[in-house]
Amino acid sequence: MNSSGADEYSPSTATKKEEMGTTLFGKYKLDKILGYGAFAKVYHARDIKTGQSVAIKVINKTKSLKTGFIPNAVIKREISIMRRLNHPHIVRLFEVLATTTKIYFVMEYAQGGELFSKLTKGRFSEDLSRRYFQQLITAVRFYHSRGVYHRDLKPENLLLDENWNLKVTDFGLSAVKEEIKSDGLLHTLCGTPAYVAPEILSKKGYDGAKADVWSCGVILFVLNAGYLPFNDRNLMNMYRKIYNGEFKCPRWMSSEMKRFLSRVLDPNPVSRITVDEIMNDPWFKIGYNEVKSISEEEFDIHGEDDIPYLNAFNLISFSSGVDISGLLNQPETVSSERFVSAEATEVILARIVEVAEVEKLIVTKKEWGVKLKGENSNFVVALEVHILTKELVVVEVKRRQSIDECCSQKIWKDKIRPELLKLVYLSEGSKKIIC
Ligand code: ADE
Repeated sequence: MNSSGADEYSPSTATKKEEMGTTLFGKYKLDKILGYGAFAKVYHARDIKTGQSVAIKVINKTKSLKTGFIPNAVIKREISIMRRLNHPHIVRLFEVLATTTKIYFVMEYAQGGELFSKLTKGRFSEDLSRRYFQQLITAVRFYHSRGVYHRDLKPENLLLDENWNLKVTDFGLSAVKEEIKSDGLLHTLCGTPAYVAPEILSKKGYDGAKADVWSCGVILFVLNAGYLPFNDRNLMNMYRKIYNGEFKCPRWMSSEMKRFLSRVLDPNPVSRITVDEIMNDPWFKIGYNEVKSISEEEFDIHGEDDIPYLNAFNLISFSSGVDISGLLNQPETVSSERFVSAEATEVILARIVEVAEVEKLIVTKKEWGVKLKGENSNFVVALEVHILTKELVVVEVKRRQSIDECCSQKIWKDKIRPELLKLVYLSEGSKKIIC
């Protein structure tokens, strides 16, 4: 229940900015950052009264919408459906809170982290892949039976609980995301269409249930193969492979699993297997009714020297968590962008500070990064650097539009932005897939 007793979407009071140790709505104490979703930051927090761990997803509304954001009835309805649903393989949504600038989704905390982060070292056995696929399908079936479709199933949405069981997150929030996007808030989705069904790519009308089945098929393939079924350095080739359902199974995959996958990854949604048919498939049914928890021995990772496993960059970019479209396309009203860099925090900050000093901007070093300000203008750029992995950081660039637009736009466009672009971590292939 909402602490204020108000509707889950009513504006309420929160801290100005989420920082570790601060309290939200007098109720949740923020502890650490868990990650960056497609359109938000996620924090671990504790309910101050009960000590219960929760995950809080924070969505920033853009400056232009700060005043008078009226949540849409569709979002409200979607959220109230989500809050009532309870399934062992779906992350619970406890409550939704909002201020005039932010929306906070308070969710069940999945202690085991992202399932796919376990795949950076190799692949899962066929049995374990099937076990996770079974858990995923029961979650998907549960939601479909209630008229809720994910439409955006991908690695970042698959988490593990303390017993290494699957927990799907963000289910049913896709309508919220759509709404946020069409409202013009932040988040241009970028990345590859690796998990997206061909009928969605072709932008024809599509059946949400069939599209979810496709994404589950891609996920199953990755679990056992350790690489993506549809992948190519060239985006057009990748689209072609998806449209044609063209994928190569690894040598260790059983013929039964290959047959099953060919039914799930059928590019024609009409002939593609349905969730009910999946539940009756002989490959799927193996071990389905056994109530077994996943043991440490089973959570085994198989490595092959000649297979290019997913790396941190794949995981980040495929899950659309990186948005550098603003840096590349220079939209006029950008307020926040993120990119991944392989440079050290000190190097990133030093390079930008150097440019800023030449341009006579006022540089203020902060705990979280650096703030640059035009001497006589409203021009402000804030650079936050967050550690992502041992090798990578996420740089968040927040920019405030200037009154003195001409001059500051020039500094941004000609000086700061080119320097930031040099810091972006991109492989040759991935440059082509940035929108
Ligand atoms: N990352 C995103 N959502 C999460 C959750 N609910 N629990 C743990 N980590 C998360």
